[in-house]
This record gives sequence, C-alpha cells and structure tokens, in this order.
Amino acid sequence: MSEQEIRVPDLGGADEVEVIEILVNAGDSVAEEDPILTVETDKASVELPSPSAGKIVNIIVKVGDKIKEGDVVGTLSSDSVDSSDSAGSAGSSDGASDGASNRSSAPEPKAQSDDAPAKPDDSTGKPAPQKKSGGTRTEIVKVSGLDGFDDIPIIELNVSEGDDVDVESALVTVESDKATMEIPSPLAGKIGKILVKEGDKISEGDDLLEMIITDDGADDGDDADDSAPADSIDAGNNSPAEPEPSAAPLAAPEQPAAASDNKAKPADTGSATYEVPAAGSKVHAGPAVRKLARELGVDLARVKGSGPKSRIIKDDVHGYVKAQLQQAQQGAVVPGAGTSGIPGVKLPDFSQFGEVEREGMSRMMSVTALNMHRSWLNVPHVTQFEDADISDMEDFRKSLKALGEKKGVKMTPLPFMLKACAAALAELPQFNVALDMDRKEVVHKKYIHIGIAVDTPHGLMVPVIRNVDQKGLWELAAESAELASKARDKKLKPAEMQGACFTITSLGGIGGTAFTPIVNTPEVAILGVSKAAMKPVWDGTAFQPRLMLPLSLSYDHRAVNGADAARFTSALARLMGDIRTLLL
Ligand code: COA
Repeated sequence: MSEQEIRVPDLGGADEVEVIEILVNAGDSVAEEDPILTVETDKASVELPSPSAGKIVNIIVKVGDKIKEGDVVGTLSSDSVDSSDSAGSAGSSDGASDGASNRSSAPEPKAQSDDAPAKPDDSTGKPAPQKKSGGTRTEIVKVSGLDGFDDIPIIELNVSEGDDVDVESALVTVESDKATMEIPSPLAGKIGKILVKEGDKISEGDDLLEMIITDDGADDGDDADDSAPADSIDAGNNSPAEPEPSAAPLAAPEQPAAASDNKAKPADTGSATYEVPAAGSKVHAGPAVRKLARELGVDLARVKGSGPKSRIIKDDVHGYVKAQLQQAQQGAVVPGAGTSGIPGVKLPDFSQFGEVEREGMSRMMSVTALNMHRSWLNVPHVTQFEDADISDMEDFRKSLKALGEKKGVKMTPLPFMLKACAAALAELPQFNVALDMDRKEVVHKKYIHIGIAVDTPHGLMVPVIRNVDQKGLWELAAESAELASKARDKKLKPAEMQGACFTITSLGGIGGTAFTPIVNTPEVAILGVSKAAMKPVWDGTAFQPRLMLPLSLSYDHRAVNGADAARFTSALARLMGDIRTLLL
C-alpha cells in the first residue's frame, strides 16, 4: 500500500481556479481519471481527475478555495501505484516536485461534460492537452451535426460579429420541414466574420463563421475541442442539438436587456418564467446541463442556479421546466417574458440616460400585472362609447343628501350605475356569461354579482357586490362604501373578491372623458365611467344644458357582438336617463 498526493494537473494555462464542488469523500474508491474536484475558471468549469486508481485518504481543500497547478489537494492510497506510473505524476513521492515536472504525465483536467468529451489524443485515447500558447488564432467553424439533413435553411443567426460565445452556445438556428434545431458552437471564443446569412441553405461541412480564439489556455475547460485542427472546427459535432418539434416557437423571444449577454438565445418554451437575471449576470452551467437545457428548450439565463456560486445544475433545469408547466396549466402569463409567441419587451440600460433606481414589485402589483396581461392577451377587446343624460338622476341623488346624512350613508352615482347595470344584464343576458373555450360551451349565469374597481394606495382591488338586482339603492350605497373602505384598509376577504359577472370601474370622481377598460376575464364585459360634465344637447328645437355621463363599455367580442354592445350602452343611457325605468 502506498500513498500519493493528489496534485492539480496542468490547467491549460489558467493561473488560479476556484474549487466549486468536491466530488469525493475520504474512503471513496476511485478509478484512474475519475473526477475528484470541479473547479471553475472565469470561462468554464473543469473536473480534475484522479491520477490513478485507489482510495481517497483525504481531501485538504474546500469549496471556495483557490488552487493552481501543482497544488496538493488531497491524498490517495493505492496498492498498485508503481513508481514508474507515479514518477512524473501528480503524486511523485518526494512531494516536492514542481508543477513543471508533473506536467508530462499528470492527468489532464477534463471538461465537465457527458456530451462534449475532449477529443481523444490519437495515441493514448486520453483527452488531448489544451493549448497554452498566448495570442489569438482564427478558426473556421463548419456545419456539422445536422443528423442527416442537408440543404437546410437558416432561419435565425443567433450570434453577431464580436459576440463572445461559450462552448455549446447556439450559433445559428436551422429549420427543416420536420424540425428546427440549433447548431451549437464547438468551442469558446469571439465571433469573427459570419460567412452565412438568414435564408442561406447549409449542409454538413459548409463554412459557417470565423471564430477568434484567445489562446490564454483558460478559454474554456469545457472546450475540449481546442485540440481540433487549427483551421477548421465542426459546429454541431461537439454535441449536436436535438431537433425540436416544429411546434416549438421558431423565433426565440427576446430576453430583457438585463439578461442579454450576446450569448445564444435558445428557443423559449413559451409562456412564463421569471427568474430574470441581474444585469451583466453570467450563466454558470456545465456542458451536460447546457445540453439538457437545449433539449428541453430552456433558456438558462432564466434559471436560478442552486449549486455553488449559483451554478445551475440539472435539478434546477428540471425544476424550472416543472414550474413552467404548472404555470402554463394554470394559464399564467408573465409580462416581458415573451408569451403567446409574442417577443418580450427588450429593456435598454436606462442608466445610460440618467440615474435610475430599481424596486421590487409588490405581490399585488405583480398579480394585477399578470391578470391584466392575461385578459389583454386572451380577450379580443372592443370598446363601445355612450353618453348618458343623468341630469334628472343627479337632481334626485342630490335630493337624498339630507336623508343620507341621517342614515350615515353617502349616496354617490355608483349605486345608480350598479342598478342600471344589473337591469341591463337582465335585459341582455348575453353579457352575463363566461366562455369555456376548452369545452366549447357558454356558461350562462343566473345571478347578478357586480365587481367595483377600487383605487387603493396599494393597488387596484375589485370587491364584488352580490345579487345587485335584489338590492335597493341605500343598501348598494352602504355596501359599496363598506367594501371600498375594506379594500383600502386591506381587509377584504378573498371570497369578497370572487364571483363577479361584470365590473364597473368608475373614474368619474377623478376625471377624464373616456377610456378603454380591460375586461376582467372570465367576465365578458366591463363598464368604464368617466366624469359627468354639462354639455349642450339638442332637444329638437334648441340646445339644452344637460349633465352627461360618459360610458365606455369594453367587451369580449367572442361573447358579445357589436350590435348587442350598442344595445347595452343604450339601455344604460335609457335607465340612467330616467331612473323610474329601473323600477320596471
Ligand atoms: N362624474 C362626476 N362626479 C362623480 C362621478 C362621475 N361619474 N362619480 C363620482 N363622482 C363624484 C361623487 O359624487 C363624489 O362627489 P361628492 O363628494 O361631491 O358627492 C366624488 O365624485 C367622489 O366619489 P367617490 O368617493 O369616488 O365615490 P363613488 O361611489 O363614485 O366611487 C369608488 C367609489 C370605489 C368606485 C371610487 O372611490 C374609486 O375607487 N374609483 C377608482 C376606480 C379605479 O381606479 N378604476 C380604475 C381601474 S383601471
């Protein structure tokens, strides 16, 4: 039995690397080349292999330590380590060998990959040494890995000249009549001249682009293909992209600027996500994880890493996909994430224009944003406008002031609107429905519950008044005031915000002449009310000054046709124009 030190082998020129994962424990048996540690340079993660077979005695470094070539990281005991094997290896017995003496036979670090293996050295079958010379060189990256497809049109260039790319970053997206696929980069470097353009048809072996490689030796531990011939590299050979079903979105949604790093943007699965990385953040993930992400159509820039230094591991990718599926099944949409095939909004770096400050959204704001976005995307909206003459209604309302003070209830125009809407919903029941598009059914509601939008300091809330048709004006006045006050004090219970058939959003107390409210789906219509104003109205012989209330009815054009919308607003104008008709 002999013991040998485990030393850091040739790192291909990287000065110092950080230990991000320890893959073995004392007592573990390892085979030669089994990974012992994962280290990370600023460009890649690399597994350091065991110099020979044996049992781990100890590991003397910990996650976060910085190590360099020649450093001792642990001890290995072995029955079979013979002196010739170990003479020049990481475990030379004098323990004082310098890194240079070890280099000749120390195992090479290998890229952390199960899909991007280092190109074997012809003679040994072991990973070939990485280049260590300084300076830059230019490689022609060729098309490869097209899985038998030929003459396939490029539908998207995923990179631009000057972009820095990692191994496996998508370079171009091609589309056959059966599938779309990305051609990944076989190595890390800077994109030079791009030799193809969108629409070009490419086949195996065609020149794709020039890649400028900086031979600082640390350009990418993932990139075992550094050992490829100096004048050409096959794109796609490294780990061919799996064809995605053609149903997958062809154009990857834009990422927010904060997430952009000029790296390839794999196709997004569509709806949802919402780990938007901080500005300038870099994705830390090994090639196997990148491959998995590409297979699943996951944009790693959106995945939160749970590994050391926020490194993304396979479980994170699976967790992300699960969360997306759950959200999609719940019908969630997320602003800015690129939903329904619509590209997301790309934010500029606002700080280039002046000072900015970022603040997290409150839960209420993000929930409201989601609901608005969902309604806006799902509902084909049309808005119908009308003016109701409420001169007589206002006279009557004002006449109730003294009685209201006695009752302790303020009579505003809102209860009249509630009554008018309830009557119009009864008259035109096609507004009191929900659409079940999955089952191709219309749900007719036999009750009349109306939501009222309430402006509160913490956001918009919509409490619901039940059975409006069965309540009188005073009851409605008291209940709406109570619900509005509860909303402002954050005292509303969830049940008090559910079950509406229709919503009234009144900005009349604030101002404005008209607006286009967003339907609170699954309701099919919403009434926007603006500020009443005196207007000259022609009575057939002369203009009369009348108090006119602007109404804006937005409706879901799948459920309601335009003629019915005009009937609805006309009915409201009639009912509020002569409130005696509310009694009929
Ligand atoms: N035209 C002119 N004046 C109006 C009016 C209208 N359409 N609607 C209300 N007013 C008057 C009221 O009569 C009252 O005046 P007064 O004190 O002289 O009697 C004043 O405006 C304030 O009324 P308000 O306290 O707002 O009561 P309300 O019953 O009309 O409205 C709410 C209650 C909850 C709807 C209202 O307070 C509110 O929050 N509105 C905002 C809703 C919103 O933000 N919608 C946007 C959704 S995107």
